[in-house]
Amino acid sequence: MRKFLPADQLARDERFNTITMQDRFNDPRSALGTGDAATTTAGARQKFRLTPERRDASDGARGLMHGIMVGEIQALEGAGRTCWDFDTAGVAKTSSTGAHSAGAAQNPSGDMDVPFALKLDMARQCWDEARHVEISIKLSDWMGTEIGQFAENTVLFAAACSSDPVLRLAGVNCALEGLAIDVFTTMKEFGDLAGDPFLEFCEDWMLADEVTHVKMGSDWLRKVTENDPERRKKALDFQAVVDKLFSYGGTRSDSDESPIGLARRFRALAGFTDDEVEAINDVSVQALEERRARGAAARASADPASATST
Ligand SMILES: [Fe+2]
Ligand SMILES: [Fe+2]
Repeated sequence: MRKFLPADQLARDERFNTITMQDRFNDPRSALGTGDAATTTAGARQKFRLTPERRDASDGARGLMHGIMVGEIQALEGAGRTCWDFDTAGVAKTSSTGAHSAGAAQNPSGDMDVPFALKLDMARQCWDEARHVEISIKLSDWMGTEIGQFAENTVLFAAACSSDPVLRLAGVNCALEGLAIDVFTTMKEFGDLAGDPFLEFCEDWMLADEVTHVKMGSDWLRKVTENDPERRKKALDFQAVVDKLFSYGGTRSDSDESPIGLARRFRALAGFTDDEVEAINDVSVQALEERRARGAAARASADPASATST
């Protein structure tokens, strides 16, 4: 089996359509739209949190659920790949593992063997993600969505393609599964407000697993890089880049203007410090301000008289 599989080689049947993240955000049905939606035509701030009150709540929630479903598939693929792509530390290379040299050739950054216990955690994660895929498909069906009704972007798996397993943990487990904690919490609250116990309970159960996945990622990141500050810094920088990417347009923050809230309590359970959560909020709030500025500029150019009213 091939090692270091690129994202465009992922196995998908004809129901799946892959698009860029930009295109996904620009899907008019998306609850994460990053246009000028958070400001009214008068420029006033308004709530944009994904709740049943929103007029586009149905499409928004179904699109988000579909996004969760494809994310679960990619999380499963990524964790599985980390078990397969790297040799196990302390295990002598035999001729039967000779094929590993092909992977090693693509991995020139040195010794990237991973501890067996790390692989065990990734295997446990595969088990969880496979269950999440099933739950998400059933929830999508329950919400009236067919597989492929919304498109897929493979950014999560792309973050799991790094040649350094520690960067994979930083990008996927810490950044993207941290985002999953925020998304699941918002969806759980959505289920509660909408009076949908199935959505509420399923999101709650998956949320518990995601908290564990983030904790596993940050624990291993620190353990593996204990004596390698440079590698740790590289991993944390990558985590910050991925966090920033997903804060585009202020997608999640404490502000009601963000579609997704920041799940501070669950993030704390996953091992995030207050400063780390604050940093994510700051990036997102800054992105919100930028979105407002873009909206104000667009309104000003369409109607110069309105520019003074904002
Ligand atoms: Fe998951
Ligand atoms: Fe996960």
